[in-house]
Amino acid sequence: MSSKKMLITGGAGFIGVNSAKHFLNNGWEVVIFDNFSRQGTDINRKFLEDNYKERLQIVVGDIRTDQEELNKLCEECDIVLHLAAQVAVTTSVVDPREDFEINALGTFNVLEAVRQSSKKPAIIYASTNKVYGGLEDVEVAEGDIRYTFAGDMTGVSEAQLLDFHSPYGCSKGSADQYVRDYSRLYDLKTVVLRQSCIYGPHQMGVEDQGWVAWFMIAALYNKPVQIYGNGKQVRDVLYVDDLVNCYDACIKNMDKVSGEAYNIGGGKSNTMSLLEFMDLLNNEMQMPLHYTFSEVRPGDQPIFISDNSKFMEATGWNANTGVREGIVRLLEWLQESKDILSPMYEVKEVKAS
Ligand SMILES: NC(=O)c1ccc[n+]([C@@H]2O[C@H](COP(=O)([O-])OP(=O)(O)OC[C@H]3O[C@@H](n4cnc5c(N)ncnc54)[C@H](O)[C@@H]3O)[C@@H](O)[C@H]2O)c1
Repeated sequence: MSSKKMLITGGAGFIGVNSAKHFLNNGWEVVIFDNFSRQGTDINRKFLEDNYKERLQIVVGDIRTDQEELNKLCEECDIVLHLAAQVAVTTSVVDPREDFEINALGTFNVLEAVRQSSKKPAIIYASTNKVYGGLEDVEVAEGDIRYTFAGDMTGVSEAQLLDFHSPYGCSKGSADQYVRDYSRLYDLKTVVLRQSCIYGPHQMGVEDQGWVAWFMIAALYNKPVQIYGNGKQVRDVLYVDDLVNCYDACIKNMDKVSGEAYNIGGGKSNTMSLLEFMDLLNNEMQMPLHYTFSEVRPGDQPIFISDNSKFMEATGWNANTGVREGIVRLLEWLQESKDILSPMYEVKEVKAS
């Protein structure tokens, strides 16, 4: 029997490389389509090429412009895992057009490639909890080191009003709605996953994206960290293997989940505030962090905890990796990968002439 084939747009990025690894290990053929714009993608490419000689194809391409290549690949694949994106809120504010072109137009191009194919592969789209905006209607209480929900609420469900904030929120949010509508209108199999903060190996975090990895990298390489707001913001964090298992669960339950949007995060058992994480690094893990505070970013939610129950009920999936366990695994990867990460993160000495 021939193996199933998956196209992963953005497959050389953090979530992409972890997904490729999982599906290659499970007998899939994987095509990675990436423009390699993100720092560290060459490291991920080398990792995949060194470890997977068979069933892996790498295509250098851009979802904004390479429509023909996307069309061709959609004729060959059974599943499209659409991850390619401009991923940082701050960058989206600086260059909203580029953000729009990659996230909204790029997703539209992927959808069109699928719609016009004869094979009509199913699409899994990595959306974001940012589609719910700043959650201004949610009552929040301020404690000493974290915000909490003020009432009975324990998590944000899909019933929460959509409220796109920031160019990133708008571009990802419009893509989210297009993906849902293409299922309704053209009878395609599509599923939207509104992901919380994801963390784990291969995350080459930077100042404005991937904060869990970034804080740890900053501590290891002695770099200053900026805390936007007062640091009491609470996030539910999801270990990347659990997210990849969620993608797998989507494929196995496609008839049930198609046409739906789901919130996917660490849930109420896997939350931390920035101050709590800094305390863990400084005091328990002996990884001192140097930080300063600055202005809150647009649309930054004081607290986001995903209510995963809709997806859990549909598929039986669960977020299995506890925060401590996940952080230790990420730290192990950062330490093992010191040789390849150092050139990227070490302060370069400038010699006086
Ligand atoms: N990491 C998170 O915490 C998180 C949370 C919510 C949603 N998401 C979504 O998950 C997806 C993957 O995120 P990630 O953390 O792996 O980010 P990442 O930056 O590591 O991966 C994105 C990949 O897309 C590629 N890319 C960018 N522009 C492209 C273009 N025009 N054409 C082709 N490839 C392009 C980049 O080179 C990169 O490899 C994104 O859609 C992101 O919005 C991530």
